[in-house]
Amino acid sequence: MSKRSNFSSKIGFVLAASGSAVGLGNIWRFPYLAARYGGGTFLLIYLILAVTFGFTLMTAEIALGRKTGLSAIGAFKSLDKRYSFVGVLAAIVPIIIFPYYSVIGGWVVKYFSVFITGGVNATAADDYFTSFIGGTFEPLGWFLLFMAVTAVIVLCGVEKGIEKVSKIMMPVLVVLTIIIAIYGLTLDGAMEGLAYYVKPHMSDVSVKTILAAMGQLFYSMSLAMGIMITYGSYMKKEDNLESSVRQIELFDTGIAFLAGLMIIPAVFAFSGGDRSALNAGPGLMFMTLPKVFASMKFGGVIGTIFFLLVFFAALTSAISLMETIVSIFRDKFHWGRRNACIFVAVLSLILGIPSSLGFGPLGFISWMGMSVLDIMDFVSNSVLMPIVAFFTCIFVGFIIKPKTLADEVKVTDGKFKAEKMFNVIIKWVAPIFLVLILGSSVANALGIFKI
Ligand code: PFF
Repeated sequence: MSKRSNFSSKIGFVLAASGSAVGLGNIWRFPYLAARYGGGTFLLIYLILAVTFGFTLMTAEIALGRKTGLSAIGAFKSLDKRYSFVGVLAAIVPIIIFPYYSVIGGWVVKYFSVFITGGVNATAADDYFTSFIGGTFEPLGWFLLFMAVTAVIVLCGVEKGIEKVSKIMMPVLVVLTIIIAIYGLTLDGAMEGLAYYVKPHMSDVSVKTILAAMGQLFYSMSLAMGIMITYGSYMKKEDNLESSVRQIELFDTGIAFLAGLMIIPAVFAFSGGDRSALNAGPGLMFMTLPKVFASMKFGGVIGTIFFLLVFFAALTSAISLMETIVSIFRDKFHWGRRNACIFVAVLSLILGIPSSLGFGPLGFISWMGMSVLDIMDFVSNSVLMPIVAFFTCIFVGFIIKPKTLADEVKVTDGKFKAEKMFNVIIKWVAPIFLVLILGSSVANALGIFKI
């Protein structure tokens, strides 16, 4: 087996994995889901799932990668041929996500460009966002630009440079998010929003909320798509796996929490108590934040910096998505890097066009009230990822046995503090829960019953 290059230090590993994990999922997706699914209720369910399920699955994936030294398809195959299909299923997820991820990435670049040219007040208008995404060539153009930047970076193999930049930018993003959140909380009506965001209401707990939180967890932590297996394959045996997972988790969840804090109270402040604003969905960040910036001293400058930082967070995640897809095609068809990159870029472009046009010319395509982009998001997050997670649990729990991976975790210092929890969750709690959740979501989607 050829020697794989390793991350030079534990912190290097944690930052690289966090670069993939922290992205639009935290800043754009988490707040609109929390807003839509009951605020504090969603937040509480998410936190519980993160420290139990999220921890267990991330540990399993990284340990699988480090143990085998291979990425998803190879890792499953090398341990048990019958389970290669899990790796294949996992490989489909980024192929679905990357195109629409780039559509949203394009929206971020568009907002950056408007802010830097002094258009903060224009973006704060009520129908600015909807008329922008309702267009044809404009959103397509920004999507193309975001995808092209990502593709050029992956093609030239200069990810390392980008990672370096983003390591500096990430802490700045955290600080800026805190400043914006504090400012937002001083606005009239924001306190009511804060209460909505942090206070759980048990009456809001539903299968839909749990499913949404679970899908978000996978998405945000880059789980159930093989990516953490790949990262694990580059991790050194001397680095403590358990504490690395805790750190990535803390970082990822912390940024999502702050993004919610920045957006949800502001929604209340600007909607004058109109709760329907909470249901804005994918557009929430783009509709709410410009209003915050427009009302803020130096809002134009702060907004410009903010969208630039979000762009970088999105870019590092998009790079890791594209890299994953490229390596899948390279391994499968033995293509050169260049050809694989070009193929993936063209394929993703084609797959992303319907998502981009789904709010305008293709607006007539709708399924259960979802646009094309929402449908892509639903299929990957609420259907495929739970399936991949389910089989990963069965594979670890009953085929290779949790002990195999627990031993891998212990390689560094003989300790695995959460081993008991890991065993119980991976064998019993997670599979049962995933089947229930998935069954009800599919039944709901097919209209068999409403939840
Ligand atoms: N975790 C990223 C986010 O929250 O934005 C999305 C993502 C990136 C998922 C890379 C998967 C991946 F391979």
